[in-house]
Amino acid sequence: MNAHDGKVALVTGAASGIGYALCRELHARGATVHAADLNEAGLARLRQECGDRLVTTRLDVADEDAVRDWIERAAAERGRVDYLFNNAGIVVGGDFEAMDRAAWRKIIDINLWGVIHGSQHGYALMRRQGCGHIVNTASTAGVMPVARSTAYATTKHAVVGLSTSLREEGRAHGIRVSVVIPGLVDTNIFSTATNIGGHDYDAAIRKVPIGKISPQRAARAILAGVAANRQYIVFPAYNRLIVGLSRAFPGVMGWLINRAT
Ligand code: NAI
Repeated sequence: MNAHDGKVALVTGAASGIGYALCRELHARGATVHAADLNEAGLARLRQECGDRLVTTRLDVADEDAVRDWIERAAAERGRVDYLFNNAGIVVGGDFEAMDRAAWRKIIDINLWGVIHGSQHGYALMRRQGCGHIVNTASTAGVMPVARSTAYATTKHAVVGLSTSLREEGRAHGIRVSVVIPGLVDTNIFSTATNIGGHDYDAAIRKVPIGKISPQRAARAILAGVAANRQYIVFPAYNRLIVGLSRAFPGVMGWLINRAT
């Protein structure tokens, strides 16, 4: 029997990229999936591809009440929630001095408050259940400096701190928490980036001399990390090297990334 058969998984940012692939993979492995996103067209496509055992909800992760209701409704309908993937995220690129308050607020609302809302209400539910696994998506920018992505790196560093701290707190209560550190994945996130002051995020990423992996490969790596209950789920292999080197030589790696982009 598949480890995901009969499990209940909740995924945010499910209409595109990594979240979409995660939903498909979980569904194919026998899980019941509650998929949420702002993008209704992407959700409709996902529903069409998966059919039964997949429920979609239009959800803004920045809206705390909506996130709480979504989690509680899934638990009431299914009897429990086994996995919560706080995956939704955006990127904003550009010089620090050009970032206005609105751009800061938007990325913090989605990338950080979105993960806080999911973690807080998911954790409350899992405390009542006595089990569950919260999986928060950060980034390599959550463990190393990335120039002209200061706001993105700020939110992702916070997601790492939130997740690793909550993991220790949840341990005594049977709750698992993991944080995902993907390398480059071939999704829409760069082409839909908010660019500030003439920055071109997509072009900057294309200059990085590293290939992107497919969202499906990312989803499989995440589920392997979840099955192994890893604290940090880092992939692919080159990214484990980058993360290791940036811990050992933080200044050098920040300088290199700055030059590459
Ligand atoms: P994507 O752009 O393909 O998918 C992100 C999804 O999040 C979209 O469907 C979007 O509609 C949704 N979303 C945005 N704001 C939302 C909100 N307020 N409420 C609900 N949903 C919202 O991007 P991708 O690449 O799949 O990103 C998923 C996560 O992976 C993000 O947290 C991102 O920061 C992270 N990541 C991605 C990397 C990559 O190379 N693609 C690398 C490192 C991290």
